[in-house]
Amino acid sequence: MKLLFGNLKFSKESVKTKFYLFYLLYFIVSALVVTAVKRQDFKTCEQSSFCKRNRAYADKLTANHSLISPYSVIQDSIIIKDGIISGDLINSENNLIFIFELHLLEIGAARIRINEKNPLKPRYDKAKDWALIQDPSYTLEYTLIPSKPDVTSLSFGKERKQAVSIYHSPFRVEFLVNDVPIITLNDRGFLNIEHLRKQDAPGLVDQSNSENDQVIEDENDLDKGLWKETFNGKEDSKPNGPESIGLDISFPGFSHVYGIPEHASSLSLKETRGGDDSYSDPYRLYNLDVFEYEVDNPMALYGSIPFMMAHRKGASAAVLWLNAAETWIDITKNKEDKHRLSSLLGFGKLTPTSTSTHWISESGVIDVFAFLGPTTSDIFYQYGLLTGFTALPQSFAIAYHQCRWNYLNQEDVAEVDESFDKYDIPYDVIWLDIEHTDGKKYFTWDTVKFPTPEKMQTNIGIKGRKMVTIVDPHIKIDDNYYIYKEAKDLDLFVKEPDGRIYDGWCWPGSSSWVDFTNPSAQEWLIKKFAFDQYKGSTEHLFTWNDMNEPSIFSGPEITMPKDLIHHGGWEHRNLHNLYGIAYHSATSKGLINRSNPPRRPFVLSRAFFAGSQRYGAIWTGDNFAKWDHLAIATPMLLTIGISGLPFSGADVGGFFGNPDTELLVRWYQAGAFQPFFRAHAHIDTKRREPWLFGDPYTGYIRDIIRERYALLPLWYTLFHEASTTGMPIIRPMFTVYPEDEETYAMDDQFFVGNSLLVKPIVNEGQTSTEVYFPGNEIFYDYFTLKKVQGSGKVQIEAPINKIPVFLRGGNIIPKRQRIRRSSAAMRTDPFTLLVALDKFGKATGSLYLDDGETYDYEKGHFIHLQFTFSKRKLISKSLSVLNNDENLYAQSISSVRVEKIIVLGLDLKPKHIFADCIDCSKNSKRELQFGLPTTNLANAVIIKGTDLLITEEWVIEFS
Ligand code: GLC
Repeated sequence: MKLLFGNLKFSKESVKTKFYLFYLLYFIVSALVVTAVKRQDFKTCEQSSFCKRNRAYADKLTANHSLISPYSVIQDSIIIKDGIISGDLINSENNLIFIFELHLLEIGAARIRINEKNPLKPRYDKAKDWALIQDPSYTLEYTLIPSKPDVTSLSFGKERKQAVSIYHSPFRVEFLVNDVPIITLNDRGFLNIEHLRKQDAPGLVDQSNSENDQVIEDENDLDKGLWKETFNGKEDSKPNGPESIGLDISFPGFSHVYGIPEHASSLSLKETRGGDDSYSDPYRLYNLDVFEYEVDNPMALYGSIPFMMAHRKGASAAVLWLNAAETWIDITKNKEDKHRLSSLLGFGKLTPTSTSTHWISESGVIDVFAFLGPTTSDIFYQYGLLTGFTALPQSFAIAYHQCRWNYLNQEDVAEVDESFDKYDIPYDVIWLDIEHTDGKKYFTWDTVKFPTPEKMQTNIGIKGRKMVTIVDPHIKIDDNYYIYKEAKDLDLFVKEPDGRIYDGWCWPGSSSWVDFTNPSAQEWLIKKFAFDQYKGSTEHLFTWNDMNEPSIFSGPEITMPKDLIHHGGWEHRNLHNLYGIAYHSATSKGLINRSNPPRRPFVLSRAFFAGSQRYGAIWTGDNFAKWDHLAIATPMLLTIGISGLPFSGADVGGFFGNPDTELLVRWYQAGAFQPFFRAHAHIDTKRREPWLFGDPYTGYIRDIIRERYALLPLWYTLFHEASTTGMPIIRPMFTVYPEDEETYAMDDQFFVGNSLLVKPIVNEGQTSTEVYFPGNEIFYDYFTLKKVQGSGKVQIEAPINKIPVFLRGGNIIPKRQRIRRSSAAMRTDPFTLLVALDKFGKATGSLYLDDGETYDYEKGHFIHLQFTFSKRKLISKSLSVLNNDENLYAQSISSVRVEKIIVLGLDLKPKHIFADCIDCSKNSKRELQFGLPTTNLANAVIIKGTDLLITEEWVIEFS
């Protein structure tokens, strides 16, 4: 649909008429919408010349074992100094020299950088400035290991458990943990750096001299697209010619790899060459607005995180391929054991499957981080130290959001807001899409529909609720539009190669795009969110960044032409995948800066890159109201979460199409267990606010939204954990049970933290499902509190009013059971503790809370409690840094009680239960009243009406 308008260009005089024509056509086409992705709008590897060349190069080496990588270390060039090993490489096919540097890092990782030694001009190297929080420090804890003359080996880390070996000829790098290789670079010899050259200079590594012509069907084809490339009639001028980089990265002994979002694909990544169930194209990373995307597909989507993790029994490893250009990744799995792995891993005669990957980027330098684990949590931490942990959001941001394209006017907003109260359904945020503006000019209001935006926001703000408006990066070309005028006067727009401002087509019609990689553009946008600049905005208003791939209806593959020019003269091709984060970053800083003292921002973005977690949430874009789209949301969100970006969600209900009631109910049930929980719908869909379906369906939706509110203390505690340790919020089974191979490819059930096991129902008419309960542990049904009978695969009832959710024995979770209209209204409500004992009669848990808005927590104004149950005693201990006299937050909730404690799985019924304070002088031991439920399958004990304060340390004894 979008492409229909791709080639239309309108003269300025006729813009208004064409504007209406555009919308007329738009609505006609919407009505006739064909429900399938337009594959022909997007390139395959074959249609992307650099991908094709690198694949062909790989095929040549794979087909002929006598061919080896032409790259080798120049003799005596290696220097080892202060945690950096550097040297020169030569490519024997063209005698070009490259420099490499291997950095041993304090965070338990290593980094390898390879660049041309004397490039014709600098190659792009700025992805790091957006992805990393700082240049990581080198470790001085390393020891040179004596080895053969053509190998340089060092062990590093405090206990010297990690090691790296650089093989000189051919050049190959191997990372080892406890002497076992876990990551190897250029093992298969696919290292390929297309050097910058003049067009008339000698060409590429001469493919046509290949001894193995048969693998490349048409050799001459490979020369096509070196200096100019055309796709769907759109030409890429490619003035720098070929400049791609390629490298193979292998994970010996690992049969599963994960990560590299965003794709509508499985959690454990599939083979892209050779396997039975293989995709034909590599996984592609190129931020794109793919209209009506297909599930089970390696096609690129809106965001890119070039991070991949491998996991097997006893080891995890990961890499970050720090590059923001278009990237393709091939994955193959091989049974062959090249690395003496069988004996090293104690597998006897069995040969483990290894996974080999081939990374191909259009431009830039090779900059790869290897994270050596050894556990998945170590990797999450190491990656977080490098790219930043997720920003702790305001507490409203993790509650329920109500969105549609579009709420029509202020009356509509007021009615929706009141209806939530009328139907007793809590919600925190109402969203306004593009129609709220004056002609898609962001930072403005349609004053007919929204005459008093401040008043509208105040009205919802009084109830503790918030509003979000959309602010997209395309800027309508209109000299009367202050944003356009300012950006033009300040010379902030992205340019054509000839220096003219680029003019493309998006929602407002003819538009230009600010170059957010320009520091002046960042500064400018940050200021635009000041309350006196963004007229009609108040402290209750937050932001949605959409279309920031960027999406350009008239552009190649619905995005920006690669030969456009950014700040510093860099071509768009180098930095495409970070345009979105650059926009997200400025928006997020704008929201922080508009208040004094600063308040936490909330910005939802569609495009993302490594590091986006520092700026806010993301969502999975325009999904479909279909069962397979509900199903794919789980692996997509799990993948994004393990790639350092835990705050994500999928549109509840499906963006396109009209879900029937069953699908909608199931989607709400799944959505209530996503970190970002928002219902959204396309402008052409029927209204679907929860009360429109009538009971029992409205009731089912109400119940699950209310359950989300009951669990907000758990979610907030998990966000705090993510913001300090990098642990994902929803977690794949393999991260919770790293030794259980059964879980390695499991992506239809997952954990919230370590405590709640969730299995969304994603099939029509389904009323029971098989759930996998690992490890001979005790699980309790979260809703009935009954013990699950059996372990391993168990058939579980799942009638339409129930999503299978289980509490894992060994955990204590904090809840608030008095549900009110918004999360803010529940801030001083009492707590319930749900204590689920494991088979040893033990459990642990925690609770983190702060004011949910400001940065005062950085000064110690928060409470952080550790709960432990052991030997029939439940203890609450404080982990806060400030004592309550200095802790303003603790003081603000000093009268809040723990009103109820439920203990599941006690072996013997208690006769008495006593409570006492810890380390207090007063004699405060007292007996608590308790009850035992009549149908007591989980040996539950319920203590109600306690006088225990949440801010005090106490102990409860079950005698
Ligand atoms: C894009 C967004 C969608 C939004 C629409 C209009 O398609 O993905 O969420 O509603 O644009 O702004």
